[in-house]
Amino acid sequence: MTVRRGKFITLEGSEGVGKSTNLVFITEWLQRRGIDFVQTREPGGTPLAEQLRELLLQRREEAVDPTAELLLIFAARAQHLRQLILPALAEGKWVICDRFTDATYAYQGGGRRLDQQQIEQLEQMVQGELRPDKIFLLDLDPHIGLQRAANTGTPDRFEKEQLAFFQRVRAAYHQRSKQQLENYVLIDASEPLPKVQKQLATELENILVESAAE
Ligand code: TMP
Repeated sequence: MTVRRGKFITLEGSEGVGKSTNLVFITEWLQRRGIDFVQTREPGGTPLAEQLRELLLQRREEAVDPTAELLLIFAARAQHLRQLILPALAEGKWVICDRFTDATYAYQGGGRRLDQQQIEQLEQMVQGELRPDKIFLLDLDPHIGLQRAANTGTPDRFEKEQLAFFQRVRAAYHQRSKQQLENYVLIDASEPLPKVQKQLATELENILVESAAE
């Protein structure tokens, strides 16, 4: 019997948009439906990729070259894909990933102003044809997001960036969501949580129905 490939769902957004709370909602929803899934994150998801994450998030004296940052992110992604994501999908498990390559387009492309074509080349090299089936984008004005995130401990190397950086991140996410209307679910994270989660549940239901029909 051939196993149907699992669904690959990613959660995206800038700082303070409520990713963690909504991830809990998504995983509880999947558990209630009896869906076999793996929850993971980027950068990270395997021991090596988690070490690369630490290197990336650590604040340091030395200025980090944006291209070095980009390559470390894709190194972590290559490891994560081969060790965890691809095998899980092949076994029919759904993979719920806290950030993926759309974050690279937003943070390294938008935030750090790296050339989009370079990112596309690395995406092709590392992922081949693999893309998320659905990208949930929690969208929020960074003014509000940064205020919400301000009380959650010492800022890491990304969190300590200024408002203009996060405005570019948001603009890049918007641009991608417009280019890929089919794959993106744009969620207004300024709405009350029950409304956000109602939208998430509706979208998850749609994915489940589609996957059953395949
Ligand atoms: P997190 O705080 O959502 O766990 O993500 C860690 C940080 O890594 C976050 O500030 C965004 C950043 N990041 C990138 O800059 N590029 C990427 O491709 C990914 C996956 C994350």
